[in-house]
Amino acid sequence: MASDIKTILCISSYEKGQEFMRQCKKNGWRVLLLTVERLRDAGWPHDSLENIFYLPEKEGEMNLKDIIYGVSYLARSEQIDRIVALDDYDVEKAAGLREHLRVPGMGDTTARYFRDKLAMRARAKDVGIKVPDFIHVLNYNKINKFIGQNSFPLILKPRLHAGSIGVNKLSSTDELWEAINNLGDEQSFYLIEQFIEGDVFHVDTIVHNYEIKFAVAHEYGKPPMEVAHEGRVFTSKTMLRQSEDEKKLNAMNELVIKAMGLKQGISHTEFIKYNKNGEFYFLETSARVGGANIAELIEAATGINYWTEWAKIETMSDIDEYILPEIKNEYAGIIISLARQEYPDLSSYTDNEIYWRLNKKHHAGLIVKSENKNRVDELIDLYTQKFYNDFFTSQPMRDKPAS
Ligand SMILES: Nc1ncnc2c1ncn2[C@@H]1O[C@H](COP(=O)(O)OP(=O)(O)O)[C@@H](O)[C@H]1O
Ligand SMILES: [Mg+2]
Repeated sequence: MASDIKTILCISSYEKGQEFMRQCKKNGWRVLLLTVERLRDAGWPHDSLENIFYLPEKEGEMNLKDIIYGVSYLARSEQIDRIVALDDYDVEKAAGLREHLRVPGMGDTTARYFRDKLAMRARAKDVGIKVPDFIHVLNYNKINKFIGQNSFPLILKPRLHAGSIGVNKLSSTDELWEAINNLGDEQSFYLIEQFIEGDVFHVDTIVHNYEIKFAVAHEYGKPPMEVAHEGRVFTSKTMLRQSEDEKKLNAMNELVIKAMGLKQGISHTEFIKYNKNGEFYFLETSARVGGANIAELIEAATGINYWTEWAKIETMSDIDEYILPEIKNEYAGIIISLARQEYPDLSSYTDNEIYWRLNKKHHAGLIVKSENKNRVDELIDLYTQKFYNDFFTSQPMRDKPAS
């Protein structure tokens, strides 16, 4: 093997990132994948992979010690040049592994800002970004004082989960203390914050050398917590370009990316627009491509595939200049619902604007796109009604990531 061929190790505890791995291979890199036993039969891009390694999960996730043992063993015969985490839960593990092997890239300190909701809150507040008032679940005096200064409902949420898992809205002091007490020794892994009622937005960003190369803002239909906990049809739509809100969000997103210190890659960052004052509050950030088919949504609206662009960035040399492909300024909307039917029949959905169809058992999903935002909004509204009639069902919220 020629020594100038580089090797990238991808870590993913979720079935995703196929385009990322393919693009790395296209760029002449050897691609290794570390994933979980449970995903042995998943649709991995075997043609682009040099090798796949599987680890068992403990308490629903890969354990850093197991990763370190496994990859250090592998490193006896492999020169690993880059390590990339494809899913949220893998971000801190990849960082821990980089620190251990002294591989360059995001280390523990920066990874914290993209994974730990307490760390990102505190950092954002320090640099003057508007955040919901918050407190660590640690010191009882401080918690009582916080309760005294804020009105209910309050949010109790885990620092290190994703997908609205474990996020709870509490409506009284008794309810809150009961929830805290139920956490037992897990308490310090939680924070409490002011409930900001309003619409939720996401800005998805491509970063190279600490610079934002591209960002696009979308607006969720119902807030993600409502979708996950109460069962709702999930939607998101591209925001009107150059609108006041879009400009504000892009500016705030830039402050967040800079404050957290993302050197390169992709960020999916969320904001809430408070009903009461119309102002935006920072909700959370991450160093990854947004889940729930947001990559497909963005590609529909802009022509840019975030997985592919991320792979280009990770496999570039430091002196290369990142050049963004040509951008389309169109509008797109996504709609996804759990379906009562194993194979829901969407053959009556025939509008020309349909760009993508979800192929997943017990799910119905579509992406529409158009040059005209009003048309996208109209179709998403119409389909939302139709989805409730044709497919919608809900199931109890998980308290652990999907398995
Ligand atoms: N302070 C808050 N005020 C209002 N809603 C919140 C607040 N924190 C979380 N939520 C709701 O819970 C969802 C999940 O919370 P978030 O912090 O984004 O964690 P994650 O998406 O990683 O589970 C949000 O999209 C929003 O709907
Ligand atoms: Mg979120």
